[in-house]
Amino acid sequence: MQASVLFVCLGNICRSPMAEAVMRHLLKEASLDAQVTVDSAGTGDWHLGHPPHEGTRQELDAHGISYEGMRARLFRAEDAAEFSYIVCMDSKNEADVKELIGAASSPQTKVFKFMDLLPERGTPDVPDPYYTGNFDYVYELVKEGCERLVERIRSDLQ
Ligand code: 4NP
Repeated sequence: MQASVLFVCLGNICRSPMAEAVMRHLLKEASLDAQVTVDSAGTGDWHLGHPPHEGTRQELDAHGISYEGMRARLFRAEDAAEFSYIVCMDSKNEADVKELIGAASSPQTKVFKFMDLLPERGTPDVPDPYYTGNFDYVYELVKEGCERLVERIRSDLQ
């Protein structure tokens, strides 16, 4: 069986590309990379074609995680039919994704918030480091959440 994950944030340069790179890295470590594909997208169009933000790149470099070839792209309604998990980095991203998907939603598509993976944290959203500057904290959440997601997918695939 195959699965596919799409992380969605606003600009697709800070949070969702960080999650994409970390998730791909963890899937490789778990030998699930042949079964699970990963991508990311944004709901805003300011940075289309740009590589991840410098803060995200520094964080990934510090942890030896590749982001080679990654470029910002726009979320589109058709993604709903293509991806099995659509993971939104905050509540506004989730509302926007659900509105954009509308009737294109398919029963196989699971749309949820990244922080739903970490209920014990008691915080609904991954704070946007584009505004907070705190890329370290985002990396901590992203790593923890992606570890959880790998386990969820592993169990869903069985
Ligand atoms: P992201 O952060 O959604 O985590 O990629 C942002 C990046 C760019 C902008 C906003 C948020 N912007 O307004 O350009």
